[in-house]
Amino acid sequence: MTTPTLVVLGAGGDLTARLLLPGLAALVNRRHTSVRLVGSGRGELSDGEWRERVRRSFGDESGPDLDEIIETTRYVRADATAPDDLARLIESLPSAPIILYFAVAPQVTERACRALADVDLPSDTRLVLEKPFGTDAASAEELNRLVGSLVPEDQIFRVDHYLGMSTVLNLFGVRFANRMFEAVLSSTHVASVDIILDESLALEGRAGYYDRAGALVDMLQSHALHVLGILAMEPPSSLGARDVRDGAAAVLRATRIWNDDPVASSRRARYTAGKVGDRVLPAYVDEEGVEPDRRTETWAEVTVEVNTWRWAGVPFRLRAGKALPRLDKRVAITFKEPNWIPDGLSGFEEPDRVKIGLDPATVWIHFNTNGPADPLEVDRVAMRVDLDPGDVPAYGEVLAGVLAGDPTLSVRGDQAVQTWRIMEPVLRAWRADAVPLEEYPAGSDGPSDR
Ligand code: BG6
Repeated sequence: MTTPTLVVLGAGGDLTARLLLPGLAALVNRRHTSVRLVGSGRGELSDGEWRERVRRSFGDESGPDLDEIIETTRYVRADATAPDDLARLIESLPSAPIILYFAVAPQVTERACRALADVDLPSDTRLVLEKPFGTDAASAEELNRLVGSLVPEDQIFRVDHYLGMSTVLNLFGVRFANRMFEAVLSSTHVASVDIILDESLALEGRAGYYDRAGALVDMLQSHALHVLGILAMEPPSSLGARDVRDGAAAVLRATRIWNDDPVASSRRARYTAGKVGDRVLPAYVDEEGVEPDRRTETWAEVTVEVNTWRWAGVPFRLRAGKALPRLDKRVAITFKEPNWIPDGLSGFEEPDRVKIGLDPATVWIHFNTNGPADPLEVDRVAMRVDLDPGDVPAYGEVLAGVLAGDPTLSVRGDQAVQTWRIMEPVLRAWRADAVPLEEYPAGSDGPSDR
Protein backbone atom coordinates (compact mmCIF):
# COMPACT_ATOMS: atom_id res chain seq x y z
CA MET A 1 0.00 0.00 0.00
CA THR A 2 1.35 3.44 -0.86
CA THR A 3 1.88 5.87 1.99
CA PRO A 4 -1.00 8.35 2.14
CA THR A 5 -0.44 12.09 2.52
CA LEU A 6 -2.47 13.70 5.25
CA VAL A 7 -3.01 17.39 4.54
CA VAL A 8 -4.30 19.28 7.54
CA LEU A 9 -6.17 22.40 6.45
CA GLY A 10 -6.34 24.68 9.45
CA ALA A 11 -2.95 23.49 10.63
CA GLY A 12 -2.52 26.45 12.98
CA GLY A 13 -5.79 25.82 14.81
CA ASP A 14 -6.70 24.48 18.21
CA LEU A 15 -8.21 21.20 16.96
CA THR A 16 -5.01 20.34 15.10
CA ALA A 17 -2.77 21.02 18.09
CA ARG A 18 -4.96 19.58 20.83
CA LEU A 19 -6.60 16.51 19.28
CA LEU A 20 -5.53 15.69 15.75
CA LEU A 21 -1.73 15.64 16.06
CA PRO A 22 -1.70 13.90 19.47
CA GLY A 23 -4.10 11.27 18.02
CA LEU A 24 -1.83 10.85 15.01
CA ALA A 25 1.27 10.51 17.20
CA ALA A 26 -0.28 7.74 19.30
CA LEU A 27 -1.50 5.93 16.20
CA VAL A 28 1.85 6.05 14.42
CA ASN A 29 3.78 5.05 17.52
CA ARG A 30 1.58 2.21 18.73
CA ARG A 31 0.37 0.76 15.45
CA HIS A 32 3.24 1.69 13.14
CA THR A 33 0.98 3.38 10.66
CA SER A 34 2.82 5.06 7.86
CA VAL A 35 1.76 8.54 6.73
CA ARG A 36 3.20 11.74 5.31
CA LEU A 37 2.05 14.96 6.92
CA VAL A 38 1.53 18.36 5.34
CA GLY A 39 0.20 21.36 7.24
CA SER A 40 -1.65 24.16 5.51
CA GLY A 41 -3.32 27.36 6.58
CA ARG A 42 -3.76 31.01 5.76
CA GLY A 43 -1.12 32.10 8.25
CA GLU A 44 2.54 32.63 7.40
CA LEU A 45 4.58 29.80 8.96
CA SER A 46 8.03 28.48 8.05
CA ASP A 47 8.61 24.72 7.75
CA GLY A 48 10.76 25.00 10.88
CA GLU A 49 8.01 26.69 12.90
CA TRP A 50 5.47 24.15 11.74
CA ARG A 51 7.80 21.26 12.65
CA GLU A 52 8.22 22.74 16.09
CA ARG A 53 4.44 22.89 16.53
CA VAL A 54 4.10 19.29 15.40
CA ARG A 55 6.82 18.22 17.83
CA ARG A 56 5.04 20.04 20.67
CA SER A 57 1.69 18.43 19.86
CA PHE A 58 3.27 14.99 19.74
CA GLY A 59 3.96 15.60 23.44
CA ASP A 60 5.44 12.64 25.24
CA GLU A 61 5.09 10.35 22.23
CA SER A 62 8.46 9.78 20.59
CA GLY A 63 10.16 7.24 18.37
CA PRO A 64 11.80 6.87 14.95
CA ASP A 65 8.49 6.90 13.01
CA LEU A 66 7.51 10.20 14.63
CA ASP A 67 10.98 11.65 14.09
CA GLU A 68 10.61 10.90 10.42
CA ILE A 69 7.25 12.66 10.25
CA ILE A 70 8.69 15.70 11.99
CA GLU A 71 11.72 15.79 9.69
CA THR A 72 9.73 15.44 6.48
CA THR A 73 6.56 17.42 7.20
CA ARG A 74 6.10 20.70 5.33
CA TYR A 75 3.87 23.71 5.67
CA VAL A 76 2.14 25.18 2.63
CA ARG A 77 0.50 28.56 2.96
CA ALA A 78 -2.90 28.42 1.25
CA ASP A 79 -6.38 29.86 1.53
CA ALA A 80 -8.53 26.72 1.52
CA THR A 81 -11.42 28.65 -0.02
CA ALA A 82 -9.40 29.78 -3.08
CA PRO A 83 -9.31 27.31 -6.02
CA ASP A 84 -5.87 28.51 -7.23
CA ASP A 85 -4.33 28.03 -3.78
CA LEU A 86 -5.88 24.58 -3.48
CA ALA A 87 -4.66 23.55 -6.94
CA ARG A 88 -1.12 24.70 -6.08
CA LEU A 89 -1.24 22.86 -2.76
CA ILE A 90 -2.44 19.61 -4.34
CA GLU A 91 0.15 19.74 -7.12
CA SER A 92 2.91 20.10 -4.53
CA LEU A 93 1.98 16.93 -2.61
CA PRO A 94 4.43 14.05 -2.52
CA SER A 95 2.24 10.95 -2.81
CA ALA A 96 -1.28 9.67 -3.34
CA PRO A 97 -3.74 9.00 -1.91
CA ILE A 98 -4.28 12.51 -0.64
CA ILE A 99 -6.34 13.05 2.48
CA LEU A 100 -7.71 16.57 2.91
CA TYR A 101 -8.59 17.04 6.57
CA PHE A 102 -10.71 20.16 7.12
CA ALA A 103 -9.74 21.21 10.64
CA VAL A 104 -11.53 24.52 10.11
CA ALA A 105 -14.91 26.07 10.94
CA PRO A 106 -17.87 24.44 9.14
CA GLN A 107 -18.54 27.56 7.02
CA VAL A 108 -14.93 27.46 5.80
CA THR A 109 -15.19 23.71 5.04
CA GLU A 110 -18.26 24.36 2.93
CA ARG A 111 -16.58 27.18 0.99
CA ALA A 112 -13.47 25.05 0.54
CA CYS A 113 -15.56 22.21 -0.91
CA ARG A 114 -17.15 24.66 -3.35
CA ALA A 115 -13.66 25.80 -4.33
CA LEU A 116 -12.54 22.18 -4.83
CA ALA A 117 -15.16 21.81 -7.57
CA ASP A 118 -12.81 23.92 -9.75
CA VAL A 119 -9.73 21.86 -8.92
CA ASP A 120 -8.47 18.70 -10.59
CA LEU A 121 -8.65 16.23 -7.69
CA PRO A 122 -6.88 12.85 -7.93
CA SER A 123 -9.63 10.21 -8.03
CA ASP A 124 -8.57 8.51 -4.77
CA THR A 125 -8.65 11.72 -2.71
CA ARG A 126 -10.32 11.38 0.69
CA LEU A 127 -12.14 14.25 2.39
CA VAL A 128 -12.42 14.49 6.18
CA LEU A 129 -15.03 16.83 7.66
CA GLU A 130 -15.65 17.82 11.25
CA LYS A 131 -19.01 18.37 12.91
CA PRO A 132 -21.42 20.08 12.79
CA PHE A 133 -22.22 18.77 9.33
CA GLY A 134 -24.84 21.30 8.18
CA THR A 135 -27.29 23.18 10.37
CA ASP A 136 -30.44 21.18 9.67
CA ALA A 137 -31.54 18.20 7.56
CA ALA A 138 -31.92 20.26 4.37
CA SER A 139 -28.46 21.86 4.63
CA ALA A 140 -26.88 18.48 5.48
CA GLU A 141 -28.47 17.05 2.32
CA GLU A 142 -27.16 19.98 0.31
CA LEU A 143 -23.67 19.50 1.76
CA ASN A 144 -23.87 15.78 0.97
CA ARG A 145 -24.62 16.65 -2.66
CA LEU A 146 -21.70 19.05 -2.76
CA VAL A 147 -19.07 16.69 -1.29
CA GLY A 148 -20.59 13.78 -3.22
CA SER A 149 -19.91 15.67 -6.45
CA LEU A 150 -16.20 15.74 -5.53
CA VAL A 151 -15.51 12.14 -4.45
CA PRO A 152 -17.57 8.94 -3.86
CA GLU A 153 -19.27 8.47 -0.48
CA ASP A 154 -16.72 5.86 0.68
CA GLN A 155 -14.02 8.51 0.42
CA ILE A 156 -15.91 11.00 2.59
CA PHE A 157 -15.16 10.80 6.30
CA ARG A 158 -17.54 12.80 8.50
CA VAL A 159 -15.81 12.71 11.85
CA ASP A 160 -17.63 12.06 15.10
CA HIS A 161 -14.83 11.16 17.46
CA TYR A 162 -17.23 9.26 19.76
CA LEU A 163 -17.32 6.57 17.07
CA GLY A 164 -13.58 6.18 17.68
CA MET A 165 -13.78 6.00 21.46
CA SER A 166 -12.67 2.57 22.55
CA THR A 167 -15.40 2.59 25.19
CA VAL A 168 -18.10 3.25 22.61
CA LEU A 169 -16.66 0.47 20.45
CA ASN A 170 -16.77 -1.65 23.59
CA LEU A 171 -20.57 -1.67 23.19
CA PHE A 172 -20.06 -4.10 20.31
CA GLY A 173 -18.02 -6.38 22.57
CA VAL A 174 -20.39 -6.24 25.53
CA ARG A 175 -23.46 -6.76 23.37
CA PHE A 176 -22.31 -9.26 20.80
CA ALA A 177 -19.55 -11.28 22.44
CA ASN A 178 -21.73 -12.37 25.38
CA ARG A 179 -25.01 -14.15 25.73
CA MET A 180 -26.10 -12.64 28.99
CA PHE A 181 -26.52 -8.97 28.03
CA GLU A 182 -27.89 -9.09 24.51
CA ALA A 183 -30.67 -11.53 25.42
CA VAL A 184 -32.28 -9.00 27.76
CA LEU A 185 -31.72 -5.86 25.70
CA SER A 186 -35.25 -5.21 24.46
CA SER A 187 -38.51 -3.66 25.58
CA THR A 188 -39.45 -7.00 27.17
CA HIS A 189 -36.88 -6.40 29.90
CA VAL A 190 -35.63 -2.82 29.68
CA ALA A 191 -37.56 0.03 31.34
CA SER A 192 -35.42 2.93 30.16
CA VAL A 193 -32.01 3.86 28.78
CA ASP A 194 -29.96 6.97 29.58
CA ILE A 195 -27.08 8.23 27.49
CA ILE A 196 -25.41 10.79 29.71
CA LEU A 197 -22.52 13.01 28.68
CA ASP A 198 -21.72 15.18 31.71
CA GLU A 199 -18.61 17.33 31.67
CA SER A 200 -16.89 19.46 34.28
CA LEU A 201 -15.38 21.55 31.47
CA ALA A 202 -17.16 24.83 30.78
CA LEU A 203 -16.93 27.07 27.73
CA GLU A 204 -13.11 27.03 27.69
CA GLY A 205 -12.84 30.07 25.41
CA ARG A 206 -14.87 28.51 22.59
CA ALA A 207 -17.69 31.09 22.40
CA GLY A 208 -17.11 31.65 18.67
CA TYR A 209 -18.32 28.12 17.97
CA TYR A 210 -20.28 27.04 21.04
CA ASP A 211 -22.53 30.07 21.45
CA ARG A 212 -24.12 29.22 18.09
CA ALA A 213 -24.22 25.46 18.69
CA GLY A 214 -25.24 24.93 22.34
CA ALA A 215 -25.35 21.59 24.13
CA LEU A 216 -28.06 20.18 21.87
CA VAL A 217 -26.09 20.46 18.64
CA ASP A 218 -22.64 20.14 20.21
CA MET A 219 -23.32 16.86 21.99
CA LEU A 220 -26.80 15.35 21.45
CA GLN A 221 -27.44 15.82 17.72
CA SER A 222 -23.99 14.38 17.13
CA HIS A 223 -22.23 12.25 19.75
CA ALA A 224 -25.24 10.99 21.75
CA LEU A 225 -27.22 9.94 18.67
CA HIS A 226 -24.26 8.05 17.24
CA VAL A 227 -23.82 6.23 20.55
CA LEU A 228 -27.55 5.42 20.34
CA GLY A 229 -27.01 4.04 16.84
CA ILE A 230 -24.51 1.48 18.14
CA LEU A 231 -26.33 0.73 21.37
CA ALA A 232 -29.70 0.05 19.76
CA MET A 233 -28.70 -1.53 16.44
CA GLU A 234 -29.63 -5.08 15.48
CA PRO A 235 -26.66 -7.46 15.63
CA PRO A 236 -24.73 -6.87 12.40
CA SER A 237 -23.28 -9.94 10.69
CA SER A 238 -19.87 -8.26 10.48
CA LEU A 239 -18.16 -5.12 11.69
CA GLY A 240 -17.53 -4.05 8.10
CA ALA A 241 -18.42 -0.48 7.09
CA ARG A 242 -21.58 -1.47 5.24
CA ASP A 243 -23.04 -3.62 8.03
CA VAL A 244 -22.22 -1.26 10.88
CA ARG A 245 -23.42 1.87 9.14
CA ASP A 246 -26.55 0.20 7.80
CA GLY A 247 -27.33 -0.96 11.35
CA ALA A 248 -26.82 2.46 12.91
CA ALA A 249 -28.69 4.21 10.11
CA ALA A 250 -31.69 1.91 10.60
CA VAL A 251 -31.81 2.92 14.28
CA LEU A 252 -31.62 6.61 13.44
CA ARG A 253 -34.39 6.31 10.82
CA ALA A 254 -36.60 4.70 13.46
CA THR A 255 -35.88 7.36 16.08
CA ARG A 256 -38.13 10.30 16.87
CA ILE A 257 -38.87 12.59 19.76
CA TRP A 258 -40.79 10.81 22.52
CA ASN A 259 -44.55 11.04 21.85
CA ASP A 260 -43.72 13.49 19.04
CA ASP A 261 -43.83 16.14 21.73
CA PRO A 262 -40.63 18.22 21.74
CA VAL A 263 -41.97 20.56 24.44
CA ALA A 264 -42.76 17.87 27.00
CA SER A 265 -39.77 15.72 26.02
CA SER A 266 -36.94 18.21 26.26
CA ARG A 267 -35.29 20.49 28.81
CA ARG A 268 -32.60 23.11 28.47
CA ALA A 269 -30.58 25.15 30.90
CA ARG A 270 -27.46 27.28 31.16
CA TYR A 271 -25.02 27.71 33.99
CA THR A 272 -24.79 30.69 36.29
CA ALA A 273 -21.68 31.63 38.26
CA GLY A 274 -20.29 28.94 40.52
CA LYS A 275 -17.38 26.72 41.36
CA VAL A 276 -16.34 23.46 39.74
CA GLY A 277 -13.77 21.89 42.05
CA ASP A 278 -11.33 24.72 42.68
CA ARG A 279 -12.26 26.61 39.53
CA VAL A 280 -14.38 29.70 39.97
CA LEU A 281 -16.51 30.14 36.87
CA PRO A 282 -18.42 33.19 35.71
CA ALA A 283 -21.99 32.79 34.52
CA TYR A 284 -22.13 31.49 30.95
CA VAL A 285 -23.64 34.80 29.81
CA ASP A 286 -20.63 36.65 31.25
CA GLU A 287 -18.07 34.50 29.42
CA GLU A 288 -16.09 36.35 26.77
CA GLY A 289 -17.74 36.34 23.36
CA VAL A 290 -21.14 35.10 24.54
CA GLU A 291 -24.21 36.95 23.31
CA PRO A 292 -26.80 36.42 26.06
CA ASP A 293 -29.68 37.12 23.66
CA ARG A 294 -28.89 33.97 21.75
CA ARG A 295 -30.17 32.11 24.82
CA THR A 296 -27.71 29.30 24.22
CA GLU A 297 -28.07 26.28 26.50
CA THR A 298 -25.12 24.59 28.18
CA TRP A 299 -27.22 21.66 29.38
CA ALA A 300 -29.74 19.73 27.28
CA GLU A 301 -31.95 16.73 27.79
CA VAL A 302 -34.08 15.13 25.09
CA THR A 303 -36.07 11.90 25.31
CA VAL A 304 -36.46 9.89 22.13
CA GLU A 305 -38.09 6.64 21.12
CA VAL A 306 -36.66 4.04 18.78
CA ASN A 307 -39.63 2.66 16.93
CA THR A 308 -38.46 -0.85 16.17
CA TRP A 309 -39.82 -4.23 17.19
CA ARG A 310 -37.07 -4.47 19.80
CA TRP A 311 -37.25 -1.02 21.36
CA ALA A 312 -40.71 0.52 20.89
CA GLY A 313 -41.99 1.90 24.20
CA VAL A 314 -38.59 2.28 25.87
CA PRO A 315 -37.62 5.91 26.57
CA PHE A 316 -34.03 6.77 25.64
CA ARG A 317 -33.01 9.90 27.55
CA LEU A 318 -30.08 11.77 26.02
CA ARG A 319 -28.42 14.34 28.23
CA ALA A 320 -25.32 16.51 28.07
CA GLY A 321 -24.14 19.39 30.18
CA LYS A 322 -21.13 21.56 30.89
CA ALA A 323 -19.78 22.96 34.19
CA LEU A 324 -21.13 19.99 36.13
CA PRO A 325 -19.31 18.67 39.20
CA ARG A 326 -17.61 15.77 37.46
CA LEU A 327 -16.80 14.12 34.16
CA ASP A 328 -19.30 11.29 33.77
CA LYS A 329 -20.10 9.92 30.34
CA ARG A 330 -22.07 6.73 30.40
CA VAL A 331 -24.88 4.59 29.12
CA ALA A 332 -27.23 3.38 31.86
CA ILE A 333 -29.72 0.61 31.16
CA THR A 334 -32.45 0.28 33.78
CA PHE A 335 -34.34 -2.99 33.75
CA LYS A 336 -38.00 -3.56 34.53
CA GLU A 337 -39.00 -4.99 37.87
CA PRO A 338 -39.08 -8.78 38.09
CA ASN A 339 -42.41 -10.26 36.91
CA TRP A 340 -43.05 -11.63 40.34
CA ILE A 341 -41.16 -11.56 43.62
CA PRO A 342 -41.96 -14.66 45.69
CA ASP A 343 -43.81 -14.13 48.95
CA GLY A 344 -41.29 -14.25 51.73
CA LEU A 345 -38.55 -12.41 49.86
CA SER A 346 -38.57 -8.86 51.14
CA GLY A 347 -36.66 -5.63 50.86
CA PHE A 348 -36.86 -5.18 47.07
CA GLU A 349 -36.41 -1.50 46.30
CA GLU A 350 -35.00 -1.01 42.83
CA PRO A 351 -34.63 -3.08 39.67
CA ASP A 352 -31.22 -3.96 38.31
CA ARG A 353 -29.17 -1.58 36.23
CA VAL A 354 -26.12 -1.86 34.00
CA LYS A 355 -23.96 1.22 33.54
CA ILE A 356 -21.39 1.23 30.80
CA GLY A 357 -18.90 4.01 31.41
CA LEU A 358 -17.67 5.76 28.29
CA ASP A 359 -15.42 8.05 30.31
CA PRO A 360 -14.22 6.99 32.85
CA ALA A 361 -14.11 3.53 31.28
CA THR A 362 -15.95 1.37 33.79
CA VAL A 363 -18.81 -1.13 33.76
CA TRP A 364 -21.10 -1.29 36.78
CA ILE A 365 -23.73 -3.94 37.36
CA HIS A 366 -26.15 -3.05 40.14
CA PHE A 367 -28.34 -5.91 41.25
CA ASN A 368 -30.21 -7.36 44.21
CA THR A 369 -28.84 -10.12 46.36
CA ASN A 370 -29.15 -11.30 49.92
CA GLY A 371 -28.66 -8.81 52.69
CA PRO A 372 -26.12 -8.92 55.50
CA ALA A 373 -28.31 -10.42 58.22
CA ASP A 374 -31.36 -12.17 56.76
CA PRO A 375 -30.66 -13.96 53.41
CA LEU A 376 -34.31 -13.58 52.43
CA GLU A 377 -34.19 -9.82 52.80
CA VAL A 378 -32.62 -8.52 49.57
CA ASP A 379 -29.94 -5.89 49.47
CA ARG A 380 -28.47 -3.93 46.61
CA VAL A 381 -24.89 -4.56 45.52
CA ALA A 382 -22.70 -3.32 42.69
CA MET A 383 -20.00 -5.05 40.68
CA ARG A 384 -17.46 -2.81 39.06
CA VAL A 385 -14.95 -3.51 36.31
CA ASP A 386 -12.43 -0.94 35.11
CA LEU A 387 -11.91 -1.14 31.38
CA ASP A 388 -8.77 -0.55 29.42
CA PRO A 389 -8.94 2.92 27.86
CA GLY A 390 -7.47 1.60 24.58
CA ASP A 391 -4.06 2.11 23.00
CA VAL A 392 -4.92 5.26 21.05
CA PRO A 393 -7.25 8.17 21.83
CA ALA A 394 -10.52 8.54 19.89
CA TYR A 395 -8.96 10.83 17.30
CA GLY A 396 -6.24 8.25 16.69
CA GLU A 397 -8.87 5.57 16.08
CA VAL A 398 -10.80 7.80 13.68
CA LEU A 399 -7.56 8.64 11.84
CA ALA A 400 -6.71 4.94 11.62
CA GLY A 401 -9.88 4.45 9.57
CA VAL A 402 -9.19 7.50 7.44
CA LEU A 403 -5.60 6.43 6.68
CA ALA A 404 -6.68 2.88 5.88
CA GLY A 405 -9.53 4.15 3.69
CA ASP A 406 -12.08 2.38 5.90
CA PRO A 407 -15.15 4.54 6.66
CA THR A 408 -16.67 2.21 9.32
CA LEU A 409 -16.09 4.71 12.12
CA SER A 410 -17.17 7.76 10.13
CA VAL A 411 -20.68 9.11 9.76
CA ARG A 412 -22.36 8.27 6.43
CA GLY A 413 -24.25 11.02 4.61
CA ASP A 414 -27.71 9.61 5.36
CA GLN A 415 -26.86 9.28 9.07
CA ALA A 416 -25.86 12.94 9.21
CA VAL A 417 -29.22 13.93 7.70
CA GLN A 418 -31.15 11.67 10.09
CA THR A 419 -29.52 13.14 13.20
CA TRP A 420 -30.73 16.59 12.16
CA ARG A 421 -34.18 15.25 11.24
CA ILE A 422 -34.52 13.76 14.74
CA MET A 423 -33.55 16.97 16.57
CA GLU A 424 -35.27 19.53 14.33
CA PRO A 425 -38.58 19.54 16.29
CA VAL A 426 -36.65 20.34 19.49
CA LEU A 427 -34.57 23.02 17.79
CA ARG A 428 -37.78 24.63 16.50
CA ALA A 429 -39.49 24.46 19.91
CA TRP A 430 -36.48 26.01 21.61
CA ARG A 431 -36.15 28.76 19.02
CA ALA A 432 -39.82 29.58 19.56
CA ASP A 433 -39.14 29.71 23.32
CA ALA A 434 -41.77 27.02 23.91
CA VAL A 435 -39.43 25.35 26.41
CA PRO A 436 -38.17 27.45 29.36
CA LEU A 437 -34.45 28.11 29.60
CA GLU A 438 -33.62 27.01 33.13
CA GLU A 439 -30.50 27.84 35.12
CA TYR A 440 -28.09 25.91 37.31
CA PRO A 441 -25.07 27.11 39.26
CA ALA A 442 -21.77 25.93 37.77
CA GLY A 443 -20.60 22.99 39.85
CA SER A 444 -24.14 21.84 40.73
CA ASP A 445 -25.80 18.71 39.34
CA GLY A 446 -27.69 20.70 36.70
CA PRO A 447 -31.19 22.17 36.87
CA SER A 448 -33.27 21.07 39.83
CA ASP A 449 -36.25 18.68 40.04
CA ARG A 450 -34.59 15.91 38.17
C1 BG6 B 1 -16.62 17.92 21.33
C2 BG6 B 1 -17.43 19.08 21.80
O1 BG6 B 1 -17.11 17.42 20.13
O2 BG6 B 1 -16.67 16.88 22.31
C3 BG6 B 1 -16.94 19.58 23.14
O3 BG6 B 1 -17.38 20.13 20.84
C4 BG6 B 1 -16.88 18.45 24.15
O4 BG6 B 1 -17.76 20.64 23.62
C5 BG6 B 1 -16.14 17.26 23.57
O5 BG6 B 1 -16.24 18.92 25.31
C6 BG6 B 1 -16.24 16.05 24.48
O6 BG6 B 1 -15.41 15.04 23.99
P1 BG6 B 1 -14.70 14.03 24.96
O7 BG6 B 1 -13.83 13.21 24.08
O8 BG6 B 1 -13.95 14.85 25.96
O9 BG6 B 1 -15.79 13.24 25.62
